[in-house]
Amino acid sequence: MFDLEQFAADCRAALKADSSHKSAREVVARAVSDPAGVLKALGEPKRAEVQKLYHAPDLTILNLIWAPKMTVMPHDHRMWAVIGIYTGREDNVFWRRLPDDHRRVEAAGARSLCVGDAELLGHNIIHSVTNPIPRLTGAIHVYGGDFFAAERSEWDPETWQEGRYDAQRALRMFEEANESNRHPAS
Ligand SMILES: [Fe+2]
Repeated sequence: MFDLEQFAADCRAALKADSSHKSAREVVARAVSDPAGVLKALGEPKRAEVQKLYHAPDLTILNLIWAPKMTVMPHDHRMWAVIGIYTGREDNVFWRRLPDDHRRVEAAGARSLCVGDAELLGHNIIHSVTNPIPRLTGAIHVYGGDFFAAERSEWDPETWQEGRYDAQRALRMFEEANESNRHPAS
């Protein structure tokens, strides 16, 4: 069964062992290969939220619960990341900066993740995330740095203009998603 302390220790060991972060991806892949074990350890998702499981200057582990049909705008991390899905689905769109206007982005690719998938995102990746299904999605996100302290960017979903990432606003989005799921527009 998934054991958070062991998982964090394995991530730390992977961090030391392999600068390509493939080992970290393997640690996450191993965890989500037993989705029932992760669900048992972390609990069945009840509401959209960002749960901090482990937080250090060089490693952050989050339990990300996406609301049904929730989308977050394109953003970067400026550190490597691994996403592992243990329930539901996550659609990732990858973006790149326009060659003639570096503050704007265009779609460059996509990857649909389902239960058991573990995806490694490089340091410079810009992505947006959608939960395409009408129920909560649960994912373990591992970041090679302090996810909450890093300075980074997000892109306006209507204009694709770059702005400063606002962590508080991002967290509010999860609460708003919970609110609109309690009172769905008819
Ligand atoms: Fe992200």
